[in-house]
Amino acid sequence: MSSAAETIKDRLGIVEVVSSYIKIDKSGGNYKGRCPFHHEKTPSFFVSPARNSYYCFGCGQKGDIFTFVQEFEKVDFIGALKILAEKAGVELQQFKNENKGENDRLRSILDASTKFYEQNLHAPKNAKAIQYLHERGLTDKTIQDWRIGYAENEWRRLHDFLLTKNVGQIDMEKVGLIKKSEKEGARVDSVYDRFRARIMFPLFDPSSRVIGYSGRIFGVPDEDGPKYLNSPDTVLFNKSETLYGYHKAKDGIREWRYTILVEGQMDLLMCHQSGFTNTVATSGTSLTNQHLEKLQKLSDNLLIVFDADNAGVRATVKAWVSLALPMGMDVKVASLPKGDDPASLLKKDKSSFTNSIKDKKHIIIYLTDYLCGKGLSKDELMKEIRKEVVPLIALIKSVIESSSFISKVSIRTDIYESDLRKEVEEVRMRIISGENINDTDESTSDSKNSNTKDTHPLSGQKNIKEGSLIHDIVLRRVGALLVWFKNSNRDVSGVLEKISHILPESDFIYFKHSTENSPEELLFEAEVLFDGSKHIEKDMDDLLYELEERSLKHRLSETMMELGLAEKKHDTAKAEELIKICQEISLKLSGLNKRKDG
Ligand code: UTP
Ligand code: MN
Repeated sequence: MSSAAETIKDRLGIVEVVSSYIKIDKSGGNYKGRCPFHHEKTPSFFVSPARNSYYCFGCGQKGDIFTFVQEFEKVDFIGALKILAEKAGVELQQFKNENKGENDRLRSILDASTKFYEQNLHAPKNAKAIQYLHERGLTDKTIQDWRIGYAENEWRRLHDFLLTKNVGQIDMEKVGLIKKSEKEGARVDSVYDRFRARIMFPLFDPSSRVIGYSGRIFGVPDEDGPKYLNSPDTVLFNKSETLYGYHKAKDGIREWRYTILVEGQMDLLMCHQSGFTNTVATSGTSLTNQHLEKLQKLSDNLLIVFDADNAGVRATVKAWVSLALPMGMDVKVASLPKGDDPASLLKKDKSSFTNSIKDKKHIIIYLTDYLCGKGLSKDELMKEIRKEVVPLIALIKSVIESSSFISKVSIRTDIYESDLRKEVEEVRMRIISGENINDTDESTSDSKNSNTKDTHPLSGQKNIKEGSLIHDIVLRRVGALLVWFKNSNRDVSGVLEKISHILPESDFIYFKHSTENSPEELLFEAEVLFDGSKHIEKDMDDLLYELEERSLKHRLSETMMELGLAEKKHDTAKAEELIKICQEISLKLSGLNKRKDG
């Protein structure tokens, strides 16, 4: 952290900063209020002056004064630094000249280039390009709002134009607009425009400034080269952070409480034009955790709109889903009629698009229903569910939520819940042991992209290991207290032993893992919840009791449901077995109650 940042941190306490934005009240040694980052009725947002940090038990947001301002004001670190510097009366030397000057200069080059491309698009000799955009359904207003332009089929048109504006080649290259000739024997200064014969879609930063382009081939006879070409990564443009349309979608996402995610530029533009202003597009790069983190700050809910009959698209969607589920996002899908993408459907039949969105389903339910509708034999269905659905359930961050999906899938498929659970637990074990669960799957690579060789998604394992406790509140509290015990050098083996009897094996491993991987956060939670408590041993006992009760009740209701299924199938052997299990669980439950009362 820069020294200016440190000075600011010294001068401004976390309480001072946070309370200038939201109402917080003293609660023990800490402060407590309603979380500004997610909707809640009861306060679960804690500010700790001792740690100079905040933490929300509801949504997991945490950090210091800088992240708070970043999140709250939707600015980047530098932005937050500036805001807080002013509050603290600290002068920021380092931004006075170099960096700011350089980036501003580079941005103004892109702005000039964008104007140049826009003018080209409207030049009479390029009428075909604008005609093409109209044919695809774009209005003049959309073309203007999104600053769409055209790069002519010439080697150095933009280069020469920028020269007249006194822009140097070094800067042109820095922003990705020109390339040096790689041909052997080429003169050293032989450069040419990166984008030629392309309809230019500017890419924007969150403040609506152009930082790069995606260019769609247009206006060459055989449309040689990749269909879309993107700017390379530059000091201004980072493709693993940038989503097309984000600058305009931010407000829409908050308003609608979900994000619509599509693949292409045209899809995005038609969505926005048709009023779906909460849409963003990946636009030719692999979706990354960073992209999703940005979206998650605005909403946990993701809706993917796609043509389910297109195998390539299906693979891409699968990769997206596998990234989003472990982050705790709620992922729904809306499937479009065969052969359509959002752009084509919105152009010819908006109400059909709207209906597809209305019919959205959670990805797991969607896939299950889809497989059930294929008329497969029982065995084949089981195989497909195992291959397509089980791995996704195993990726869901919340243990409770994944349980509920197991029940739902069981009801829909007539597959025993216990069988599904076993499968899910197996996959989870494999994830925890670091195996790539998608090794056997079809490739999800986006090989059509000309300019990206991203590391591939499905590396959600990291998230699983770190955040699995977050959503089960009792289990998380047990974890918090356990970490606290450990931290104060108490012996925790007895407690661990008890927990291992309460939780199913894979959940226990999961639990242990989480307490080992996020002690900081859990420690904070323990401090907030238990600091000052006179009898934390009893607190732990109470929690374990609650955990066991919940776990037994949960298993009881699951087993009963399975019993219903077995009876429906006239599977008497299974039914008898299940009745026995039910009795056992009931017995344990009443034993537990006695223990508590006695
Ligand atoms: P598609 O091939 O489905 O193109 O690629 P599209 O969106 O239907 O293109 P239009 O509608 O004919 O213009 C989907 C997206 O993948 C990226 C682009 O962002 C595109 O919108 N892509 C495609 C690339 O980055 N490079 C390519 O060569 C092709
Ligand atoms: Mn298309």
